[in-house]
Amino acid sequence: MDFRRRLWRVFLLLTVLLATASSWRTAIGTGRVSNFNYWTTKLFLVATGSLSHNNSNTTASITTQRKHVALLLGVRPTLPNAPKWLYRKAWKLHNALLPLLHWNDVTVENKNALKVLWCKAITSVDPQSICQDNDWTYDMMPNYSRWWILKLIPISLYPRLHHANVEYRTVFLNRCIQQEIARLPSSTKIRLVAIGGGYDVRATRILSQNPRVQEAWELDLPVVIHGKRALLERLKERREKTKGPVQLPELRAVDLNDLDAVRDILAEFPQNKKQGETWHTIYVIEGVMMFLNDGLPKELFQLFREVARADGENASICFADHLTCSESSDSLTDEEERETVKSLFGSAGWNHFIHWAVKPGKARQMGCVRIHE
Ligand SMILES: C[S@@+](CC[C@H](N)C(=O)[O-])C[C@H]1O[C@@H](n2cnc3c(N)ncnc32)[C@H](O)[C@@H]1O
Repeated sequence: MDFRRRLWRVFLLLTVLLATASSWRTAIGTGRVSNFNYWTTKLFLVATGSLSHNNSNTTASITTQRKHVALLLGVRPTLPNAPKWLYRKAWKLHNALLPLLHWNDVTVENKNALKVLWCKAITSVDPQSICQDNDWTYDMMPNYSRWWILKLIPISLYPRLHHANVEYRTVFLNRCIQQEIARLPSSTKIRLVAIGGGYDVRATRILSQNPRVQEAWELDLPVVIHGKRALLERLKERREKTKGPVQLPELRAVDLNDLDAVRDILAEFPQNKKQGETWHTIYVIEGVMMFLNDGLPKELFQLFREVARADGENASICFADHLTCSESSDSLTDEEERETVKSLFGSAGWNHFIHWAVKPGKARQMGCVRIHE
């Protein structure tokens, strides 16, 4: 992208920020606080020159799903009736802003994973969100931009688009993982494994805070693991000064399409297991399977099962992803989609389908499965 284009995007961002800040002040003055998201979205539309689009690709069924899943999870819904093109524009604008947000920061290269981290960071400091995490995600963020984006600008000014959508899956997965941990006997040792964990801090937070979890692993592409290591080291340094000890997960660089390489990593699992101990592995899969080769999800699930069986263990998978072929699942009803995902797991030997929910967006299939009861 040439310099002028970049400059134009920065100018757009500043316009939106200034305009939203002034609408915020007006709203405070007039008590119209509940309309913030409406007005910030309108301003975003004006700033991006998008008001002339029509809303024809907003479907009633998607809106209904959104309402249901938000209610189910206790999350404030995404902006009602926001068209798909608005999500696409917001995602593109976020892309353009990354160099500015990470100016002079440690090198983090995967833009998608980074944008998801920013979405999570917004909800993690939102006083109205159940995803608040005592600054764990905040402590992953860049030195200079984290304060003004996450603490200075009121979170209610950010239109509830991508970060609200990511909040659904964050709440769902946090809850599933907590439930899986809580149902296991206290003598069972727990291993948490984030598959394609990106820059997410969940595994580190749970490992550091929950004494039931003995070890955590994260598998991702080499370039992501490289950046993650730097981010986690900075987080450790920041938190250990004031907020207590941080235990870091085992980070492993791998291409998940390479099953043999994944198998080699999973073979390291029993290294801390002592004789007579019972272990349970909880795999967390969030927005990653949709990037892998066709048919890979099933093969990976089979591999996870094989490894658990070889070690005489049980395991769970908590997922928020797109596990089936996009073209075919777009035309399915919620119930048909559930059956398709359930049979995918069944065919890989994961027969206990425990939770299920569907949300809007790409990583819309959410649930939890176990090998045995
Ligand atoms: C959208 S990000 C989601 C990251 C994280 N799960 C989260 O929700 O914050 C997708 C992640 O999948 C990883 N990924 C994509 N293809 C991969 C592959 N072939 N092998 C390993 N990781 C992969 C990316 O590197 C990235 O971290």
